Amino acid sequence: MTKRRTQAEGAPTPADLVTPDLLARHDRPGPRYTSYPTAVEFTEEFTESDYRSRLASLDGSGGDSLSLYVHIPFCEERCSFCGCNVVITRKPEVSAAYLDHLHDEIDLLAAHLPRRRKLLQYHWGGGTPTYLSLPQIEALQKKVLEHFEIVPDAEVAIEIDPRVTSREQLELLRRLGFNRLSMGVQDFTLEVQEEVNRVQSVEQTQAMMDAARDLGFGSVNIDLIYGLPLQTPGSFQRTLEIVTAMRPDRVAVYSFAYVPWIKGNQKSLEENYLPDRDTKFELFALAIKAFLDAGYDQIGMDHFALPEDDMAKAVASRTLYRNFMGYTVHKARDFVGLGVSSIGFIGDAFAQNAKKLSRYYEALDAGRFPIERGYILNEDDAVRQRVIMELMCNFYVDAAGVSSAFGIDFFDYFAPEMDELAVPGGPASQGFVEVRGGGIEVTPLGRLFIRNVAMVFDRYLREKTADKPLFSRTI
Ligand SMILES: C[S@@+](CC[C@H](N)C(=O)[O-])C[C@H]1O[C@@H](n2cnc3c(N)ncnc32)[C@H](O)[C@@H]1O
Ligand code: SF4
Repeated sequence: MTKRRTQAEGAPTPADLVTPDLLARHDRPGPRYTSYPTAVEFTEEFTESDYRSRLASLDGSGGDSLSLYVHIPFCEERCSFCGCNVVITRKPEVSAAYLDHLHDEIDLLAAHLPRRRKLLQYHWGGGTPTYLSLPQIEALQKKVLEHFEIVPDAEVAIEIDPRVTSREQLELLRRLGFNRLSMGVQDFTLEVQEEVNRVQSVEQTQAMMDAARDLGFGSVNIDLIYGLPLQTPGSFQRTLEIVTAMRPDRVAVYSFAYVPWIKGNQKSLEENYLPDRDTKFELFALAIKAFLDAGYDQIGMDHFALPEDDMAKAVASRTLYRNFMGYTVHKARDFVGLGVSSIGFIGDAFAQNAKKLSRYYEALDAGRFPIERGYILNEDDAVRQRVIMELMCNFYVDAAGVSSAFGIDFFDYFAPEMDELAVPGGPASQGFVEVRGGGIEVTPLGRLFIRNVAMVFDRYLREKTADKPLFSRTI
């Protein structure tokens, strides 16, 4: 059994070792590695027929359960920090037309997977899935369950916005088999909320939390963001106190991805109001301290979980996994995305649906999968995917395991990367990683810079010479 180390309240954390100089040296644009290769490598050379052939092999390849993601893009209003793929509308006919097409897509998928119908992980994300009315939610779930079966112990999760979710919706979702809730909060300070166009009270959020507990949702997650305009250590500390008192099972504390050149809605944010690099890191350091002191385990680069939650158990057994839904506890090998802009990974390929509703509809109306772009991994991609996933999830790379899985000698194969880790000023000399015979261990300090460590193994990043940054900053 793994021995648990708990944080003594008030004890120093690795964040206390971070200096402004260290931050300045390592704060640069970089991926969050919800996939490798990242979505910027996807191309239109990957077509619908490539996708169909992958579905055919998936169907013929035996009984493993799948992961299914359903994207509901709608929100009534846009939060100005939002980086998700959303459609802002209050017109009921828009969501009605979308659901008609989504139902068609589910039928089409099921027709191509007559033998692969078991779901181990099933997730509705958005946008805001509880934008949908009670009958719409019920009909969509009925359509999925007409074809697919949720296995016992599956993770059945939904993202909700407490501002637009009713108790009746939660009751219905629970009855329909959902067992996990994730709700957006971001920050409880009114000035910050007004600045980012997302005013949400503590009472409203607490009521959702109480309802979720009452109804028996097994795990409830709260999302926070650090680095938003007008956030200060003092104000964020108050948010952290409120959230720890609510005692969610999991908390995601995301670094604000400020990418106004990609997300036009972020241009409305006043740049001068963004906390500077050192303050932004201080906000994260406060979050680490608050959640460790409150008895949470730190998970991956930006999550915290109560020790009895499955996510904390997955870390202990090194079975945590990461995909476009973020960190997850179930390692379904293949996952299928449904809905506009969703991304799947089947066999050796990523496949992404059309990002525009019109193109998504056009394809389905013609009886085609709405695949717009994708990427087929080569062998080198597959090796690096494994290494980057191990770093992001386990903070450890099992070199012998990688060598035997891919028929390589890890340290030979990655000789340039090992040199880069070891150069003066590089991750090893900064104390981020320790290289031992068996593999690469990321230190508690290095965990705070895990994106930078993973970047060393990213072949595409080395080759990139973009004029504009493609990614948000790593700190
Ligand atoms: C789909 S939303 C969650 C559900 C619901 N729409 C809501 O906001 O309550 C997913 C989460 O992504 C995070 N997020 C959105 N934009 C972000 C950004 N630019 N940087 C970091 N996190 C972001 C927020 O924490 C948000 O709660
Ligand atoms: S953060 Fe959530 S509610 Fe706000 S616009 Fe994005 S998806 Fe919609």
